[in-house]
Amino acid sequence: MASARDNDLLTRVGPGTPMGELMRRYWIPTAKSTELVAGAAPVRIMLLGEQLIAFRDVDGKVGVMDHRCPHRCASLFFGRNEKGGIRCAYHGWQFDVSGQCVDMANVPPHQDFRHRVKAKAYKAAERCGMVWTYMGPGEAPPLPPIEATMVPVEQVNHNMIQRHCNWLQALEGDIDTSHVDFLHGGLRSAEVYPADDPRRFGAMHRAPEYEVQETPWGAMYGAYRPAQENETYWRIGQFMFPFWTITPSGPFGKHIYARAWVPMDDENTMITGFVKKSGVVGSPGGPPMGLVLGFDDRLPDDSSWFGRYRPRTNPDNDYFVDREMQKEKAYSGIVGITQQDQMATESMGSISDRSLEHLAPSDRMIVVARRRLLAAVRAFEENGEAPPASSPNDAYAGVRGGFFIAPKGPGLSDVYARQIEATKPAE
Ligand code: FES
Ligand SMILES: [Fe+2]
Repeated sequence: MASARDNDLLTRVGPGTPMGELMRRYWIPTAKSTELVAGAAPVRIMLLGEQLIAFRDVDGKVGVMDHRCPHRCASLFFGRNEKGGIRCAYHGWQFDVSGQCVDMANVPPHQDFRHRVKAKAYKAAERCGMVWTYMGPGEAPPLPPIEATMVPVEQVNHNMIQRHCNWLQALEGDIDTSHVDFLHGGLRSAEVYPADDPRRFGAMHRAPEYEVQETPWGAMYGAYRPAQENETYWRIGQFMFPFWTITPSGPFGKHIYARAWVPMDDENTMITGFVKKSGVVGSPGGPPMGLVLGFDDRLPDDSSWFGRYRPRTNPDNDYFVDREMQKEKAYSGIVGITQQDQMATESMGSISDRSLEHLAPSDRMIVVARRRLLAAVRAFEENGEAPPASSPNDAYAGVRGGFFIAPKGPGLSDVYARQIEATKPAE
């Protein structure tokens, strides 16, 4: 699968590309609300290949816009955040958060044409401690009803870190469930888990069987293996259009989690995770013994386009692989789940050449997610068809993932429906 043309369709996200335009039909988590301080300097943001600035005006409103001033294109990154909006440092034109020019300071009043000048600004909104951007045309849909992004801000952790490769291969790591017991846990025996932690069955049976389904929001898989007699250990994960995943990294219904694989450009991705705090305390569900998540192992931020949430590990330092540790302690020799995933997906090259792959039955979820994306991007490009869960976007509501033990027998549709019912939030 994946001809060069298909690979381009799937991976290229810059302005004017089919996938880039498709993604502009969705709200994009952009920055933590705390990154934008009222009246403070703008922050450089890279989204879908566009260089933007984001700032919070002195009244608390957020603006996200092209960094180039519409007068003579000097960067508004160097602007002054004054009452009323950002003022360009070159000739003093000022723009409010909607991009409207509100002052043309270097032009005499009778020649002023501020009403006709607008910076290229995008719609911005805030929810769950996150600034969201809508880069599409027309009316924006409501913010997506993805459960983990709807919890009150004080109950959420955001895990953000950059990945230096294309968004899709980075995302595919999250729906590639069979790697978990190799890359992250290849040397871990079932004994490291408490007796009541179902994940020990993953360490006992490293080659699960799968069921994969197309869904209104994208695709869903269930990986299943034997547990105790007459029971099955299920891990259910989700791909949600256009760049969201839910991994079964915690107990179904308790671990409320989602992450966006936000394309900064074709070769850089901002992983933006939402984790409901109450769901991850204690075992089961936290990282297994001896493993760290690794989100905090970062370089200090700087103000460059790619200066936020940079991992300390990278190809130049070989992710600090320790070959001694690899022999006995950690399958990959790399510390941190995030860094292990980073090594695996970045080492494919900045845009993976999928014509070289030999996909196995364990890759069914990846195949189905790609098929969904390709069909959507073609229908969008050729017929202008709205992509799944764009507008309306209620297909996201109530979607969950996680692990659990169920009686042996029923297939994915049944166990998923039952598990959703059993873990329904109280009204
Ligand atoms: S370039 Fe911005 S005011 Fe002239
Ligand atoms: Fe992983």
